[in-house]
Amino acid sequence: MKILIAGGAGYVGSALVPKLLDRGYEVTVLDLLWFGKQLPASVPVLEQDILSIREEELRGVDQVIFVAGLSNDPMADYSPAKNFVSNAACPAYLAYVAKRAGVRRFIYASSCSVYGYTENELYDEDAPAVSAYPYGISKLQGESAVLQMRGPEFSVIALRKGTVGGYSPRMRLDLVVNTMFKTAIVDGVIRVNNPSIWRPILAMQDAVAAYTRAVECSDGISGIFNVASGNYTLGEIADFVRDGVREFLGIDPKLQINHLSDIRNYKVSIERAQRTLSFKPRSTVVDIVKDLVDHRAAFADFDNPAYYNITTFKGLDDAMVAV
Ligand SMILES: NC(=O)c1ccc[n+]([C@@H]2O[C@H](COP(=O)([O-])OP(=O)(O)OC[C@H]3O[C@@H](n4cnc5c(N)ncnc54)[C@H](O)[C@@H]3O)[C@@H](O)[C@H]2O)c1
Repeated sequence: MKILIAGGAGYVGSALVPKLLDRGYEVTVLDLLWFGKQLPASVPVLEQDILSIREEELRGVDQVIFVAGLSNDPMADYSPAKNFVSNAACPAYLAYVAKRAGVRRFIYASSCSVYGYTENELYDEDAPAVSAYPYGISKLQGESAVLQMRGPEFSVIALRKGTVGGYSPRMRLDLVVNTMFKTAIVDGVIRVNNPSIWRPILAMQDAVAAYTRAVECSDGISGIFNVASGNYTLGEIADFVRDGVREFLGIDPKLQINHLSDIRNYKVSIERAQRTLSFKPRSTVVDIVKDLVDHRAAFADFDNPAYYNITTFKGLDDAMVAV
């Protein structure tokens, strides 16, 4: 089976590609390589913009996975216009050409960010998705656009992921668990912006499993699925990261608890993904810390701008202006 992964050189994509190769799939990556290329040498890479892809290039592809776009709030806030193009127009266009080319499944990287600020309720996929910030709005736009193309010959699956944590060959240190791990080691401090805020956390290994389940589910399945390893408060995540670095590294970081306001607060039910995709998360926050500890030599250059999306993105923007 042939799978094209748009954004396959990113944080999620770089961990997903080897897993799909291991299962015998033929994988091609379509990516602008903003953060470099940490992919197996055997993987063909189309280094081009999603918006430049043509229908002919997708003929013979069985499934398309979209893990591209601007992938966090700071990038979206820095360039709201590029955010709406990348997160709404790009997936819509790619699904459109994919369907015309005869691709039979499109898997879209959505986000639990679409739920915005909620109060003490467990949200399933039928709960209102209302956010007031560009990233959340655009992820919902992309999701709605691709889902409306679903049909008997074109399955569309949107995975609303929690915040991912853990190691990937293309590393990110700007995601909550990874950031806490880094500051625990480098500064001896774990900073908590607001201990009461809820976040669904998704271990990288569970994220990869969710995409694998989506690739391999029956042809007739389409829809939206929340995917997370667990729901935690930020205060609880900090406790687990501290437990992990104590146990595995003998480091005893201080906790710095702040009470800043946040635009995002949500916890989600993953019951639909369990029931329909047979998605069964296996990892906890402590498992994510163990994964980071096991791979820490691979990202020991903690200040590498490639590990911080907004830093790299601003650099790319400056370079384009200079040209
Ligand atoms: N990382 C998370 O915690 C998380 C959580 C929920 C949802 N998501 C979503 O999952 C997806 C992947 O996240 P990630 O952390 O791997 O992102 P990432 O920023 O690491 O990777 C994105 C990749 O897409 C590529 N790209 C961006 N725009 C492109 C374009 N127009 N044409 C070709 N390539 C392009 C970039 O070069 C990069 O390699 C994103 O859509 C994000 O919104 C991520």
